[in-house]
Amino acid sequence: MQNTTIISPSLLSCDFLNIADEMKALKQESQLWIHLDIMDGHFVPNLTFGAPVIKNLHQHTNHPLDVHLMVKNPTDHMEWFKAAHIHNLTFHWEGNIHHDRIINYAKTLYPSVGISINPSTPVAIIPDYIFEQVNLVLVMSVNPGFGGQSFIPSAIDKIKQLKNIRDKSKNKFMIQIDGGINDENAKAVLEAGANNLVAGNFIFKDGPQNYSTQIKKLRG
Ligand code: DX5
Ligand code: ZN
Repeated sequence: MQNTTIISPSLLSCDFLNIADEMKALKQESQLWIHLDIMDGHFVPNLTFGAPVIKNLHQHTNHPLDVHLMVKNPTDHMEWFKAAHIHNLTFHWEGNIHHDRIINYAKTLYPSVGISINPSTPVAIIPDYIFEQVNLVLVMSVNPGFGGQSFIPSAIDKIKQLKNIRDKSKNKFMIQIDGGINDENAKAVLEAGANNLVAGNFIFKDGPQNYSTQIKKLRG
């Protein structure tokens, strides 16, 4: 059976001064997304990069680009990434009120739109009509803001809850997990129902010669 798990290396842990080379090192992989963590220093206590830095990234990679917005006012930032040929754009449930308005707006810009929940946000807070609209639900398994943190195990149960919702729904949204993913917890998150694993530190920590091996370990 074809393995349909997507692995999404998070550029937060890559060599920022050699991003084009990092893209080259990932070129041969299949079923890969490139995960781009956008932080504003308000929603999370850290800053990363913005649209000007990634606008030409698509010329250096054949993989779909996946933006994870960790910003206070997601709508203000959304259009900026259009020039960057983004495939998926995810914003956070927390700090927003008009979720379906934001989803519908994002859908006018990008082929795929996701919603993310922090470790402290229960799945049950999200009404069914939101699950009918999104292409992806991102479960944070660390408190967002930094790479290299430890996996919070309660994320597994959230994935199971989301899988149940997805099984009953006509809308087969992707379940993405992000934070502290490694070869010790990958199997459990896949078995729980995740089909898109974000990993930063685990993939990038030992340099480009090991990217393929690390990615393979996550697929199990
Ligand atoms: C954290 C980010 C993650 C982060 C994951 O706020 O959303 O994407 O880069 O990094 P690791 O896999 O190192 O926890
Ligand atoms: Zn992320």
